[in-house]
Amino acid sequence: MKLVILDTAEAIAQRAADEIEALLTAKPNAILGTATGSSPLPLYDELTARCAAGRISFAEVTGFMLDEYVGLPEGHPERYATFMETNLRSRVDMRPGALHGPNALAEDLQAACQEYEEQMAAAGYCDLQILGIGTDGHIGFNEPGGPLDSRTHVDVLTEQTRRDNARFFNDDIEAVPTHCLTQGLATIMEARKLLLIATGEGKAQAIRELVEGEISAEWPATVMQGHDDALVLVDPAAASLLT
Ligand code: F6R
Repeated sequence: MKLVILDTAEAIAQRAADEIEALLTAKPNAILGTATGSSPLPLYDELTARCAAGRISFAEVTGFMLDEYVGLPEGHPERYATFMETNLRSRVDMRPGALHGPNALAEDLQAACQEYEEQMAAAGYCDLQILGIGTDGHIGFNEPGGPLDSRTHVDVLTEQTRRDNARFFNDDIEAVPTHCLTQGLATIMEARKLLLIATGEGKAQAIRELVEGEISAEWPATVMQGHDDALVLVDPAAASLLT
């Protein structure tokens, strides 16, 4: 795992976009794993700018989202499908329908998880997976305590994650869903490259555990230590607890 500390969120976005530009140049029909939340937003702005400038194209790209909330209706602004459509898919030249996510509207959620895992397996999993990290160390929505070899599954959001994400729901924690569908840790680890972005002091403990801690279910992101091509991009605040 390689750690790079960069001064600003913009510098992180540039560096992350360089990785994706290199991938799309080498493989225009790459499989890209996308993350939601605030961490990748500057990256999505940068990718949009590079696409508009003709430096990169998503015309042949297939995307797979990491996760989705359960219980939000179609079109809800905080549904991750809506988020990705608004912040990336519709801003670049990616085909409508080319960005897939687990179907959290399905009646049978277990079946929906299995179907998503099979869809990813059939595509050969991701060439590059973009990741954020929760303050409790989750990647995707793999919350602490779950198995390290999990596949796409239903997970229960921790109180901490719901508190953290209440900012997207008018600061009303009750409005934050309690359940989600998420790629499992083993699903995420299938990606040929992992690219994790973390900014701000709130992520400092999770980054310390990720970089300096033991691999442990208590800090799910630590599985990344076992990946042979993982790049972690952080700002000085997120790096502030590293020894
Ligand atoms: C999002 C996801 C989560 C977030 C994490 C950090 O699809 O899977 O792991 O990356 O909760 O969220 P932000 O970036 O909003 O701090």
